Amino acid sequence: MYISLRVFRSSLLSCSVHKIMALRQSSDMSKFKEALKSAKQVVILSGAGISAESGIPTFRGAGGYWRKYQASSLATPGAFKTSPSLVWEFYHYRREVAAKAQPNAGHIAIADYEKKHSSDKQITVITQNVDGLHARAGTKNLIELHGNLYKTRCTKCKEVLVNTDSPICEALANRGAPDENVVGSDIPVKDLPHCQKPDCKGLLRPHIVWFGESLEPAVLSNAEAVMSTCDVCLVVGTSSVVYPAAMFAPQAAARGAIVAEFNLEPTPATPDFHYYFQGTCGTTLPEALAE
Ligand SMILES: NC(=O)c1ccc[n+]([C@@H]2O[C@H](COP(=O)([O-])OP(=O)(O)OC[C@H]3O[C@@H](n4cnc5c(N)ncnc54)[C@H](O)[C@@H]3O)[C@@H](O)[C@H]2O)c1
Ligand SMILES: [Zn+2]
Repeated sequence: MYISLRVFRSSLLSCSVHKIMALRQSSDMSKFKEALKSAKQVVILSGAGISAESGIPTFRGAGGYWRKYQASSLATPGAFKTSPSLVWEFYHYRREVAAKAQPNAGHIAIADYEKKHSSDKQITVITQNVDGLHARAGTKNLIELHGNLYKTRCTKCKEVLVNTDSPICEALANRGAPDENVVGSDIPVKDLPHCQKPDCKGLLRPHIVWFGESLEPAVLSNAEAVMSTCDVCLVVGTSSVVYPAAMFAPQAAARGAIVAEFNLEPTPATPDFHYYFQGTCGTTLPEALAE
């Protein structure tokens, strides 16, 4: 079991599962809706793609860059160690973008579905996203696997706090512009966000699981528990290359759960799933989740 966050690029990763399954895949929406109707436990596993229509860049494709940096290369403990200023600028930018964004039709369809079925189904949203848009759309039963842009963690005393300040500290005001030609940041560490406890004063970091770091054990085991019992799983807007989340749905499909993928394009995990619905999730999800 991989518990640290990592990217696997090889499409061979899921082969062991899909070779055994040899699924006949369908994109028959009405057949999927029938399966969903009789499900008692439903999981919706989301990734950055569900927030793309809200204007939040994903980590793949053209939007995957901030300045000259590949966004995922800044989401690492090594980058923070080398340049806490640069990483804070990047996260300040992401906090500002997400704060201005609105939940889209995909987030809203999921929240409405949970509300409508609160008495007859157990519905859980497991998200890899850190933007808070599922909660803002009204989703209640939510597992945020990789943390949240609006939480900080003290690097010294480890205290986790919610922080929605804009900017999070004075030195970051008007910083974080994403354009390629913006020069590197050099904010002194003392001016970056710090723990307010008088006896600590440690440097704060975003409370986010970075590449190479482990997921919180309690969060991971909650997610695994619902994945191991769900009847139906919707895999929405994720490239299925970031582990451990990438193996959740293939494993559920391998034990017999009905899994449907909603994405703009096929992913390495697509062959593992019963259903594949191509398109923007702002269009496909409202249709899939409507009565
Ligand atoms: N919004 C966010 O919080 C956010 C944004 C970028 C990255 N991340 C983090 O980066 C990692 C990236 O992994 P990931 O798999 O979540 O995302 P990803 O960036 O690797 O992949 C995004 C996927 O969404 C698909 N997609 C894009 N637009 C779509 C649309 N409108 N409808 C349907 N599908 C669409 C793409 O084809 C792609 O497969 C995660 O760990 C996540 O925490 C989060
Ligand atoms: Zn502290």
